[in-house]
Amino acid sequence: MKRLLYLFVLILFCGSLFAQESPIIIETQNTALVYKTDRQNKLVQVYFGQKLNDAEEYNKLFSMNEAYVPAGMDNLHEPALRILHNDGNPSLSLKFDGVEISKVDENVSVTQIILKDDVYPVDVKLFFKAFKNEDVIETWTEIQHNEKKPVVLTHFASSMLQFDKRDYWLTQFHGDWNKEMLMQESQLTSGIKVIDSKLGTRANKFQAPMFFLSMNEPSTETEGEVVAATLAWTGNFKFSFEITPTNTLRVISGMNPYASEYHLKPNDVFKTPEFIYTYSFNGKGQASRNLHKWAQKYQVLDGEGERLTLLNNWEATYFDFNEDRLVELFDGAQKLGVDLFLLDDGWFANKYPRNSDRAGLGDWQENKEKLPHRIGYLVEQAEKKGIRFGIWIEPEMVNPKSELYENHPDWILKLPNRPEHYSRNQLVLDMANPEVQTFVFDVVDQMLTKHPEIGFIKWDCNREMTNEYSQYLGENQSHIYIDYVKGFYKVMEDLREKYPELPIMLCSGGGGRTDYGAMKYFTEFWPSDNTDAYDRIFIQWAYSYFFPANTICNHITSMGDQSLKFRTDVAMMDKMGYDIRVEEFTEEELAFSQQALKDYDRLKDVIWFGDMYRLISPYEESRAALMYVNESKEKAVFFCFDIYTYRENITNPVKFQGLDPDKKYEVKEINVQQGRRFGPFMGPGGDNNVFSGDYLMKVGYNVRGGRGDMSSHVYEISVLE
Ligand code: GLA
Repeated sequence: MKRLLYLFVLILFCGSLFAQESPIIIETQNTALVYKTDRQNKLVQVYFGQKLNDAEEYNKLFSMNEAYVPAGMDNLHEPALRILHNDGNPSLSLKFDGVEISKVDENVSVTQIILKDDVYPVDVKLFFKAFKNEDVIETWTEIQHNEKKPVVLTHFASSMLQFDKRDYWLTQFHGDWNKEMLMQESQLTSGIKVIDSKLGTRANKFQAPMFFLSMNEPSTETEGEVVAATLAWTGNFKFSFEITPTNTLRVISGMNPYASEYHLKPNDVFKTPEFIYTYSFNGKGQASRNLHKWAQKYQVLDGEGERLTLLNNWEATYFDFNEDRLVELFDGAQKLGVDLFLLDDGWFANKYPRNSDRAGLGDWQENKEKLPHRIGYLVEQAEKKGIRFGIWIEPEMVNPKSELYENHPDWILKLPNRPEHYSRNQLVLDMANPEVQTFVFDVVDQMLTKHPEIGFIKWDCNREMTNEYSQYLGENQSHIYIDYVKGFYKVMEDLREKYPELPIMLCSGGGGRTDYGAMKYFTEFWPSDNTDAYDRIFIQWAYSYFFPANTICNHITSMGDQSLKFRTDVAMMDKMGYDIRVEEFTEEELAFSQQALKDYDRLKDVIWFGDMYRLISPYEESRAALMYVNESKEKAVFFCFDIYTYRENITNPVKFQGLDPDKKYEVKEINVQQGRRFGPFMGPGGDNNVFSGDYLMKVGYNVRGGRGDMSSHVYEISVLE
């Protein structure tokens, strides 16, 4: 696994109990977050915005408000932190006690601001990791104390940020199974707006842990001041947005304190997850590009590495398959030319065979009837056909109809004296329990030890927590939400220690677990079980605001009634794959798909690592258009989708972005299905499809719609030598 070498160079340390004379400046290429101390030696945030040319001028900034407000003293609003001391005193008074700035490398620095209570032995450290070129800041908090017995933490934000603008506009993402990441934008009003999750596992089934905050007015793709932010935590989260009577906006972000009082032992460090944000002064497009670059370089496992194309069998077979059927499907994968076959749910359990979602979950032995020659044979057969083999697991869950349930009732989260509550006929294992962690680790480790050829894992998590009670935690029931996630990370850490490179797809009944905490251990994620290409445009569009293309898995399936071309074009937007019965393809469809995969292979570096420009939003028009441009601006890929053409047939040119105005480009359509080239107006210049970047960005490119149904186009744009 890629790991940063922490070369801590101590630049500055200010001794305790003195006010900080000069401002503490956390800078990236374009932004500055500035803190000072006030007369009472409290830390105050004085600025967050565009970097000033003259750093001296930060001295002129005057106090806003306390930077990280603890509860119990003079605070009148939502607090960032609340502690109950051993003597029952519920207050904290944080005074500045020093700052340390360390440089990790030329691009990354960490600022640590130390706060101390002046009466109780409690330390609070605020960390700011600044990524200069990407304009991203990660913030987290560490809390420690030296009282005799555990203190109780009832609020423990990762970050508190303050803004001082006329108006604030919030863009949030909500959904449910099959309709993930629906975007909503609204103006914040006085009082508190909260976006949170109380679902434990599959935490973002209803609300996603990410938002845009636009200053003064809604930002567009290219204009406006906007902060894009997210929390690196695979569990309950909470963002609160409070406008105070002075019109200051306080944004408090972190794990959700709901039912999570934490008993912190003396000298233990309570570290909150990282809150990640970028401030763009040129709209949402720039904010996304910042996050994409940061994620690929610093957060996602193997973010800048290869990804495998695959054929999955979930929608092609569901639970209904056996060894012979799978080997037949391998032929499809081979014919298509994908890298890997991914065997989905239904391959395991014997006493209670996994023939539906009602039984078998937890019993990770091959089902002897379906797979008489076990996984080894499948791996061998796949290899014979020149493809790799991958497999689905859901190791954190259990069906009541399983041997695991019978043998280890104490490993399951369920309330005593209450009926069990099922979702998809299953229960959640207690990941806070080290024995369960070992079990989950072993599910993967034993399989990979036996079959080191396995080239891919899809890791699912199909339900949220309800009626939860951990036998292991005993009196500390309120730790379950947090300790579950820590247990999950512990397993992933151990697995990554041993298997640093294996690609693993993060899945959670579709996209119920898409966050940057988990993405440290995963190479990609499954955005939604909804693979209807029309709906997918919206789902993928929304994910693209926060995640880079090589992490978003899109499969071409039989869902929906759009043409194979349309489905292929939609899937090509990010990481393309298949989940379809290839043997049912006509010859033409097969040839089209083979060519599409070849083109994808040629262009994937542009799509994955190029700068993404969202050109026309499906939320605003009956079209969606986007493009990727590589770093040298020599190659680009442009996607355009016409949706609702019956109602509205928009054909005005789409203006490109990100090209070099002085370069000449050839625009060539790819993914053309035989005999289905739509309309003669492929570009303003007829067949002569060579234009300057200047022309394409100022005049635009005409894309003709389809014949009354949804249509789509993909163009390869290449610089002319
Ligand atoms: C979840 C996943 C699907 C599939 C099924 C298998 O719903 O999102 O892709 O793997 O589980 O049961």
